[in-house]
Amino acid sequence: MRSSPSYGSLILIILILSACGIAVQSGDIKAVDLPEEEQPELSTYMISLQRFSQKLGYSIAERNTMLSLFYVEELEETVEDLIKEVPEHHGAPIAPVAQSIMVSRIDHLEKTIATENWPAVDAGYTKVIDGCNSCHQATQHEFIKILPADTSRQPYNQDFRP
Ligand code: HEC
Repeated sequence: MRSSPSYGSLILIILILSACGIAVQSGDIKAVDLPEEEQPELSTYMISLQRFSQKLGYSIAERNTMLSLFYVEELEETVEDLIKEVPEHHGAPIAPVAQSIMVSRIDHLEKTIATENWPAVDAGYTKVIDGCNSCHQATQHEFIKILPADTSRQPYNQDFRP
């Protein structure tokens, strides 16, 4: 019978939709109101920050304006979410440090990319990476050292050229 698999998928869709409904409802609870163990995992944000900052580095190295703008935007959104969702981590302030160290640097880099003044973009990118490391130092994670993207061996199955 051809109808039975689609009936199965219908049930699956309903299950997925109701799971989304639950997610939306719990989104109403502010992260600050939750005990720390229920807050979104800080390392999940860090994985995104590492990924987007690295891809941004490759896009800048290729002088690819559109792709650089795309990744700087992704980086900016991730930092904004981090600021909203993770006020602190094991007693160390996260949101205030991210706000003071990262936001203006990323914002400045975004504006500089739009001007295509590439030496200034390179300098702005270095400042963002320095910002990552400043926070790692400020939060007793100085052993996590981020480097600018290494263009001699980019690991993605992606072409960063314009
Ligand atoms: C507001 C402070 C802060 C900022 C800003 C910050 N980090 Fe982190 N980062 C941390 C803390 C704290 C940890 C340790 C997390 C843990 O204990 O799970 C961490 C951990 C990490 C890790 C290790 C986890 C992993 O997945 O390997 C990486 C990589 C990382 N950060 C990358 C970055 C990058 C890249 C940036 C900048 C684009 C950045 N971080 C900016 C505070 C910060």
